[in-house]
Amino acid sequence: MEVRAEKPDDVEAIFRVNVAAFGREGEANLVDQLRGVASTLSFVAVESEQIVGHVFFSPVAIAGDCADRLLVLGLAPVAVLPDYQRQGIGSLLIQYGLSECARLGFKAVVVLGSPDYYPRFGFVPAKQKGLGCEYSVPNEAFMVLELERGVLEGRAGMVKYRSEFNELE
Ligand SMILES: CC(C)(COP(=O)(O)OP(=O)(O)OC[C@H]1O[C@@H](n2cnc3c(N)ncnc32)[C@H](O)[C@@H]1OP(=O)(O)O)[C@@H](O)C(=O)NCCC(=O)NCCS
Repeated sequence: MEVRAEKPDDVEAIFRVNVAAFGREGEANLVDQLRGVASTLSFVAVESEQIVGHVFFSPVAIAGDCADRLLVLGLAPVAVLPDYQRQGIGSLLIQYGLSECARLGFKAVVVLGSPDYYPRFGFVPAKQKGLGCEYSVPNEAFMVLELERGVLEGRAGMVKYRSEFNELE
């Protein structure tokens, strides 16, 4: 199992992995729309030369006190082919992606997802750090991970994903 950055030849396989994992095209189309936007990051998991998993990060804005220049990313989507799920591939992708985000100088990552899954990577409810979500979701589903300890201290505001996300249900 290898996890590495996306390459140009991976585009179709990434589309297929997202469609298979989510059972619809929304997330796959979102990745296609955001690919190439500044501060997006895309990683794949490869087994026997087949792409079996994918994770994507894109920039979010924090509308609030003094936070405009913080480099914060949103983790979404993350997808693993159904036959390969629950073997640790999603975890590997997320851990690899987060360490690359930190290495590249990003300060924090937000995620909207299962509160049973993301805390194992260090995510905490974003509300604890004063961050709100623009979508109406349960508080515990919107989480944040500081990549640099304390970087969100004294910051607060509404987190806004790129407008392309609004097309997702
Ligand atoms: C979410 C996903 C990427 C996880 O990948 P994976 O390779 O199966 O994950 P791992 O093997 O690393 O981890 C499996 C663990 O995550 C848990 N888990 C996986 N998806 C979960 C979910 N949606 N909600 C809660 N827990 C989940 C499993 O219960 C398992 O927990 P355990 O270790 O306590 O048994 C994969 O299940 C997937 O592609 N799902 C469909 C797409 C999706 O919902 N993506 C997330 C939203 S953006």
